[in-house]
Parts: sequence; structure tokens; C-alpha cells
Amino acid sequence: MRDVVDDLIWDEAPKEASAVALLDAPALVEDALTLTDDVRVFCDDWRDAALVPSELLVEHPTDLAGVDLALARLPKSLAALDEQAALVQGAQDVTFVGGARIKHMNLTMNEVLGKHFTAVAASLGRSKSRVLRAWGPNGLESDWPKVRDHDDLGFAVAAHGATFGGTKIDPGSRLLLAALRGAGRTPGLEGEDVLDFGCGNGTLAMWLARDGRTVSARDVSWSAVAGTVVAAEVNGVEVDATWGDGLADYPDDSFDAIVTNPPFHKGFAKDSADTLAMFDDAARVLRPGGQLWCVFNSHLPWRKELNVRVGRTQVALQDPHYTATVTVARA
Ligand SMILES: C[S@@+](CC[C@H](N)C(=O)[O-])C[C@H]1O[C@@H](n2cnc3c(N)ncnc32)[C@H](O)[C@@H]1O
Repeated sequence: MRDVVDDLIWDEAPKEASAVALLDAPALVEDALTLTDDVRVFCDDWRDAALVPSELLVEHPTDLAGVDLALARLPKSLAALDEQAALVQGAQDVTFVGGARIKHMNLTMNEVLGKHFTAVAASLGRSKSRVLRAWGPNGLESDWPKVRDHDDLGFAVAAHGATFGGTKIDPGSRLLLAALRGAGRTPGLEGEDVLDFGCGNGTLAMWLARDGRTVSARDVSWSAVAGTVVAAEVNGVEVDATWGDGLADYPDDSFDAIVTNPPFHKGFAKDSADTLAMFDDAARVLRPGGQLWCVFNSHLPWRKELNVRVGRTQVALQDPHYTATVTVARA
């Protein structure tokens, strides 16, 4: 599981530390333990966290504060990098070493690190990868999570740095909300127990809870779940938001309806396997006759897949970019 980026991060890291934070870098656990017993691991993606001995995982990413060495896989999102850099502030001296494939890096990353450290330098490239090294922490406090009111929708959403879409409303989700309200060619959402599958900043969950449903939310990203929890508090609604990959821990026939704006990328790679697995999970945990509401880029063949994997699927609403569908789960 260790790759050329992990190798470069490790080769560029100082080999002395009393406390090490690993951010989204599960493959570096064994190396970090050669430096100190105080290794604190945080992975935003549940699948990465599952690779790490549980006693090394922090309860909350704020527990990373105070380390003197932070080793990170640089996230794609600048907001996520900003939060990574803020989380490891605390010690008088902390060095941050973050690596990625060069094609996924840009100069703005240096600026983001420059907000939190007095010095930032890039390594030479190796195996199409590079490391950014930052030192001289300025102790700037984290301003995550962020909350934004959406008066047009009547609720707020919340995001950590790595939450999909930040505090914006995704245009696909906006279309899905209209379809759920019955603004399309089909009647709106039916059902009491509803799951927002891949909840991100909680947009769909907040609408469902405001609409009086019993709402669960699930995401594989810690930042998404934590954002949804904050949004529920701010909006004064109840949402049972949990962190996990898919729905393996939910029994069959758990929900009357599921709403989802599924991913079509995992990390940087275009990958539909994740979305298809989510459809299969939804088919299992929906009660027979339950509804799966989905929105996706119109060029994707998801209507066909939904018909095959879940049940009869109708287009509820479309705009020039997105299609919202409703599928009735087979018995
Ligand atoms: C396109 S985003 C939509 C987020 C949010 N519903 C919105 O409307 O803004 C897809 C979400 O699915 C989550 N996701 C991807 N794969 C997942 C999986 N296997 N299990 C649970 N959530 C997943 C991602 O982390 C991301 O938050």
C-alpha cells in the first residue's frame, strides 16, 4: 500500500521527533513508530482509517495539536490543506512535510502553507512526485468548521476543509431538492425513515429534517459527517450522522427512502465502482417499494444501472447538466 509519494515524504522527513502526526498517510505508520511511541493518526477517509491500528487513531483531529512533526498526503482541496496545517499548530516548533503527485499540486498550496508557517520549500521532483516542507509555525487558530446560511433554502450547511463542496450548495443537489419537493414529472419524496447517503455538508439531510422526516446520514469522509453534525446543531434539527464506507453495517430493509448525490471520482481517479457499490447497498437497505432518489451528471449511464440494480427508474427532473431520478426498490 506504500507508494512513491509515501517513500518521498519519508525520505524528506526529519528523522527526529517526539510526537508525530500522520494525516491521510496510513502507510507511514510503521516508519513513524521508529521515531517515537507518540504517533497520532487522522485519516479523513474511513477506508484509510480502517488500515490503521485503532489505538493510534485520534478521537478528534484537534488531538493532533502539539506534535513536532506532521507527515501528510497533500489533499486535492486547498481548504483541506488549510485545515491540515491549522490542526498541527500548537508546539513551539513543528515541521510539516506533505507530498503528492506533481500533477495534483499547484503553487497556491505553497501560499496556503505560508499562511500557517514562516517558511515553505519544495523538494526536487522524484517519480513524478514532490514534497512541500513547511516550518516555523505561526500558531494561527483553525477557523474550521465553517457554517453558511442559505436563506433561499431556509437552512445552514457546515463544512470542514475536506467536506465535498465546502459550504456551497451543489447544483446537482439543488436540482434533487426540487425533485424531492415534487417540482418535477413525478410526485415528491414519500417515506418517513430517510437516509442521506454521501451526505457531504448535509444539504439534503437538512432539507429532509426540516421537512419533518426521521433522518440518518452517512459519509465515508470524516469532514462530511462532522459538517453535517454541526449543520444539524445550527439548524436545530436531529440527524443521525455516521462515518463509514457504504452501508454494510445497516440491516436489510432499514429505510423507506434514500437520497443521494453520489461521487463519480474517488480521490483523483475517475471511478464508477464506488457509485455502483452505493446503488447495490441502497437496493439492500431499502424496504421493498422504497424510493431511491439520485442525481447525477446527465452523461453518466446511471439510469440504466439503477434499473438493473435497484428497480424501475423514472426521470423526475433535468436541467442542462444534471438528471434527478426516482427508483422504486424491487420486492
Ligand atoms: C457528490 S458528493 C455529494 C455530497 C452532498 N450530498 C451534497 O449534496 O453536497 C458525494 C459524497 O459521497 C461520499 N461518498 C463517496 N463514497 C462513499 C461511500 N463509499 N460511502 C459513503 N459515502 C461516500 C463523498 O465523501 C461525498 O461527500
